[in-house]
Amino acid sequence: MLITMPSQRQVLSIITIALIALLTVTTLQHFTGNRGLDDIVLGPLHDSLPQVQKQRPIYKKPPTYAPPPIKDNFPLLQTTTKLPPIPPWNVPKRNLHRSYDLPLAPPLLIGFTRAWPLLLQAVTSYITAGWPASQIYVIENTGVQQANARNQLTLQNPFYLNHTQLKTLGVNIIQTPALLSFAQLQNFYHSLTYQHNWPYFFWSHMDVLAFSLENGGDGLPRYNEDGYKTIYELSLAALKEARETDPRWGIRFFAYDHLALVNPEAYEDVGGWDTMIPYYNTDCDMHTRLTMRGWSLKDARAGLITDVGSSLADLRVLYRVEEVKPDFCDVNPPPPEKGGKTRFAGAETMNASSSTHQSPKRDADEKPDPEIAKFRALEETAHAMVRYKNSGTRERYVWQMGQRGGQGEPFYYNAQGLQDAIEVMIETGRRIYRMKWGHKDCDLIDGAKLKLGDQWMVEKDYFAPLGD
Ligand SMILES: *[C@@H]1O[C@H](CO)[C@@H](O)[C@H](O)[C@H]1NC(C)=O
Ligand SMILES: *[C@@H]1O[C@H](CO)[C@@H](O)[C@H](O)[C@H]1NC(C)=O
Repeated sequence: MLITMPSQRQVLSIITIALIALLTVTTLQHFTGNRGLDDIVLGPLHDSLPQVQKQRPIYKKPPTYAPPPIKDNFPLLQTTTKLPPIPPWNVPKRNLHRSYDLPLAPPLLIGFTRAWPLLLQAVTSYITAGWPASQIYVIENTGVQQANARNQLTLQNPFYLNHTQLKTLGVNIIQTPALLSFAQLQNFYHSLTYQHNWPYFFWSHMDVLAFSLENGGDGLPRYNEDGYKTIYELSLAALKEARETDPRWGIRFFAYDHLALVNPEAYEDVGGWDTMIPYYNTDCDMHTRLTMRGWSLKDARAGLITDVGSSLADLRVLYRVEEVKPDFCDVNPPPPEKGGKTRFAGAETMNASSSTHQSPKRDADEKPDPEIAKFRALEETAHAMVRYKNSGTRERYVWQMGQRGGQGEPFYYNAQGLQDAIEVMIETGRRIYRMKWGHKDCDLIDGAKLKLGDQWMVEKDYFAPLGD
């Protein structure tokens, strides 16, 4: 015989090795909380194992770099309740919605959890672009109860929001009863439609800069030409069109989803957002379910809306105040580069001189229009801010870490801890999504060939060595 039978002793050692291997894998899964295989192979296991030390607790090493304190980007609001006038061509006409056969002036909801300078910038940009302030609702989703309303937090606290200043701007504030995840916040928006009898609503992210198309382009009239329409008016037109031409209109997206228009009837029909998928992928889940039920999701155009991670240095620039130039500053600058020099210090401002964006231009011999020049400078700065946010040197969402203060204030929560915890919930949400659909990606209909009734009913269609 070519193959020799193993001896009893050899059999025993094989069984022992197998048992040890199984025990090791089980232990690994226990200590890593069943993370991906990469984490197990690459992650230093001893980090998760209890260390034998005499003195407890053992504190984490403090960060090697702390960004400078963030700066107020609208100091005028501290000293006055009288704001500069918004550009006259963007002043919304009274009851403009009636010209679009709309039963209600549509509300615009902007959710806020942290990074006040960015919220203030987004709100101010919508107002100066022509969205009526009285129709803007800032949804304070900070979890700090009445602390902001009572002026108890300071600017360096991530959850800081100034009610007085928002009231000066003329916008409304609605507070969530507790800190909600993204999906819960969306369902909270939906709940407001029952409370206020809203047949539709717009919502926008808080890290955007919105402009009306004051410089025309694509054959649209400029700010001083006949037929010019602000971002607000074009949004009303998109809403009118959806209502009149599409009985199954679900959502209209403007500039990806920086601004979105929602039909609450469609949300109700699919049972709202899945709060078990708290952050990323919850949009795939929701939007696909709407599509599966035959609600339309379409893109529309209303203005220029960019997502940014920095703030204009002085928001008066949005009112075109003469002496203010459009600079921007990073709310959370990166550590100095090796060699000592800080690339962008918190106090330092940046400008758009290196911009490659081409704003529509007309004849070369056309006489220069100072308002167009100002608008172009703003637009270029906005594009420079987007490039800065996307420049590979920085993580996309680090601006959320600019404020690290607030120790000792009511409802204080460690800024880094909040970030880390949200990242874990994001990851868990992704896992729940793939458990729910048996599929990892967003292409549930075309890719995975799934129907609405398939939720939680199908086996996974991907390789998962550790069983999730
Ligand atoms: C909020 O802004 C007002 C001025 O608009 C200021 O007086 C007040 O101190 C600010 N509150 C906080 C807590 O910074
Ligand atoms: C700002 O613009 C000036 C020229 O106008 C340029 O010299 C300077 O480097 C720019 N700053 C930044 C940070 O881009």
